[in-house]
Amino acid sequence: MKTRIAVLVSGGGTNLQALIDAQKSGIIKSGEIVLVGSNKADAYALERAKNAGIEGFVMRDETHLLEKLAEEKIDLIVLAGFLKILSEDFIRAYEERIINIHPSLIPSFCGKGAYGLKVHEMALEYGVKVTGATVHFVNEIPDGGRIIAQKAVEILEDDTPETLQRRVMEQAEWILLPQAVEMVSENIAKGE
Ligand code: GRF
Repeated sequence: MKTRIAVLVSGGGTNLQALIDAQKSGIIKSGEIVLVGSNKADAYALERAKNAGIEGFVMRDETHLLEKLAEEKIDLIVLAGFLKILSEDFIRAYEERIINIHPSLIPSFCGKGAYGLKVHEMALEYGVKVTGATVHFVNEIPDGGRIIAQKAVEILEDDTPETLQRRVMEQAEWILLPQAVEMVSENIAKGE
């Protein structure tokens, strides 16, 4: 039985696209993306889901989302650019079954308010020479759950937050997330 995956999005969905492509190319073979949920009706990520023939869902609120996840018998929730904070009840309902991709090497540049471009502004501000992306389990502490995988990316002299974000996405996020989703899906499918 394949692990049934729901991907939660709020924006452009480039990480979702990487997952869709990885499913097509066979990198993700132990799981199947059966639902894309968003808190934003106009998220372009929903368009990507539609183009891939995957059911899209716009949540009214967390209860509405939980009902849909139960209805679809979801085993694994992947947060890919999802910007809503999940309640402790929600997280407890899916203990060790929610993973998130964060665009830095946790524990650097993470936690409350550190998301999107802000993360790369913080890295440039601090002057680190290496950054990257982290996939981790979600617990009640923002970006605090057990780390699953990380991938480093060099910072270049003339980097701006935008050029750095792009490189971290291309060279880290879009590679790391599919690998992590396959690893966790395989463990779930094996009943671990
Ligand atoms: C990006 O900042 C990415 O680093 C983070 O979520 C944001 C949007 O990603 N994971 P996406 O294009 O919507 O996947």
